[in-house]
Amino acid sequence: MKKTVCIVLAVALVATGFAACQKSKNENGSTVPSGAGTSSSTSVQSTTPASKQTSSTVNANQDATKGSEEGRTAAQAMTPNGKKYISITFDDGPGPYTQELLDGLKERGVKAAFFMLGQQVKLYPNTVKRIAAEGHMVGSHTYDHKDLKKMTDAQVKKELDDTDAAIKAAAGVTASALRPPFGSYTKEQMKKVDKMIVLWNVDPNDWKDRNAQTVCDRIVRDAKNGAIILSHDIYKTSVHGVLKAIDILQKQGYVFVRPDELVQRSGSSVVLGKPYYNAVPAAATTHTTKRSSAA
Ligand code: NI
Repeated sequence: MKKTVCIVLAVALVATGFAACQKSKNENGSTVPSGAGTSSSTSVQSTTPASKQTSSTVNANQDATKGSEEGRTAAQAMTPNGKKYISITFDDGPGPYTQELLDGLKERGVKAAFFMLGQQVKLYPNTVKRIAAEGHMVGSHTYDHKDLKKMTDAQVKKELDDTDAAIKAAAGVTASALRPPFGSYTKEQMKKVDKMIVLWNVDPNDWKDRNAQTVCDRIVRDAKNGAIILSHDIYKTSVHGVLKAIDILQKQGYVFVRPDELVQRSGSSVVLGKPYYNAVPAAATTHTTKRSSAA
């Protein structure tokens, strides 16, 4: 019986979200320089053969279902005040649109997480400084988007150390979190990382479909209490789509917090080196499946 109520409620919420998305105004046409920041996206796509994309999408969907179950469990513990907590995260930047995104997040009172590439940090040091100064989570995404699972411990350490050094030089802080590129890692590798390991359970595939409305619709459709949303601030369409989705979800009662706060709001403390796909740490199994192709 409960299940029926949930389904009806979910359908109603999705319908509301979709309607709201459609009513949203078109994104503003503010101009930003282009060109920089595209190299990482190109490499992402070129390293992902089409055949793999299909299978990884299926796997990601299966995992997302599992994640939503965990999310609902976390939700029950998290909503004594009727609020829903959720995290929005950005990978592969900073890029030419990140400053515009930061303006939008500031206007909306949103704290997010940025999983940055060391090579991008060097190109946009002032943006990194602003990310840290405005209270967002400063995260590492390796120096040049490597698949950690294929690397030795020494190579992984160098990727993380080089990225930390770049972030330190730009903003005077060290990354407190890591998102392994492609969501690819082994449990043993992560145990050695002295950072919060942040994955995701909502994936709008914003790298693939460069359309702000599509990105907005998918985020609103899949949002749930305790969820971690994946997106990429190197695409203008993602920046605009995410901001539209935030407007809608805030009206639905969602509060956007950093992933570490998301865990704390669920009543637990962050365990470093343990992967989080949502507010609840993942089961202690080795993660061998590639998730979204472009994270
Ligand atoms: Ni990535």
